[in-house]
Amino acid sequence: MTESLASQIQKLPKVELHSHLEGCIQPELVRTIAARNNISLKDGLFTSNDLFAWDDFVGFLQAYDEASFCLRKAQDYRDIMYTYMEQCAAQGTIYAETFISPDHAAAVGMSYDDMLSGCVQGINDAERDFGIIGRLIVSCVRHLGPEQAVVVAQQVADNPHPYIVGFGMGGNESMFTQAAFAPAFNIAAAAGLACTTHAGEVLGPESVWDAIDNLPVTRIGHGVRSVEDPALMVELTKRSIALEVCPGSNVALSVYPNLASHPLNKILAAGINISLNSDDPPFFETTVGSEYQSGAEDFGLDLEQLRNISRMAMESSFADAHTKARLLAVIG
Ligand code: ADE
Ligand code: ZN
Repeated sequence: MTESLASQIQKLPKVELHSHLEGCIQPELVRTIAARNNISLKDGLFTSNDLFAWDDFVGFLQAYDEASFCLRKAQDYRDIMYTYMEQCAAQGTIYAETFISPDHAAAVGMSYDDMLSGCVQGINDAERDFGIIGRLIVSCVRHLGPEQAVVVAQQVADNPHPYIVGFGMGGNESMFTQAAFAPAFNIAAAAGLACTTHAGEVLGPESVWDAIDNLPVTRIGHGVRSVEDPALMVELTKRSIALEVCPGSNVALSVYPNLASHPLNKILAAGINISLNSDDPPFFETTVGSEYQSGAEDFGLDLEQLRNISRMAMESSFADAHTKARLLAVIG
């Protein structure tokens, strides 16, 4: 009997390049951490089905901030990282890059060092127990503005760590231009960090042009709305800029009404490098594994096309050359 496609996809080595640690914390873990830190959670944070409650993009960002409000100790960051990596490994993930936000830690009085040491411990424990390799992308928060982004970039430049491989930006895309963040990204790039920014998710292709023309980025978070501008699609291919595509997140946040209208196949047909990612798993009911399964079920991709997505993802990852070569050999 031939093995089902679903089970072959389950075993396929996967690479996740776009998830936010504060957006990976499951409701149950939020409650556990809040209880041990004596924090009372805001009423209405969860739905009756035990999901995070939010209605739109800004509501999502608020729920995300609220969940991260209970994180007070290195151990809290360790536990989220470990749990998330355990789930990734169970879905066949061999490598994951996760955004961490020092601004969220600072908002509750946590030091950068405590946040980082917790994340590093979670990565080390997960590698020991599940063999998965984790790396970190320090992210600034767009709606906190370009000056605060410089503070974060300088902090990461002044405190290098082998697991911190990149610098990125999330947050409310409708505030400030990408160009306004050039000083922060230039500090990070000068410190040897690879760069990515969220663009072309809530806003259209002009936001992606703004990013690629003004920031030292080799990847774009989402970038899916690039399909609205054929010249931009050509430019992304020419410059080998990879898109971190998160179809489930895009539908959850109403960027597209359903997966049938999602442009994943148009992006692949244009020859642009992509990865498939979960973004904020418990918020959007996504996982990297379900995004790969959806690649087959909703987008008609076969196993070899999905394997090629893992390859493209590993190639556009911010891992060092040795790790890349080693994991590319595992993907096959
Ligand atoms: N932060 C966490 N998830 C995000 C998303 N999908 N877009 C922008 N900022 C985010
Ligand atoms: Zn994101």
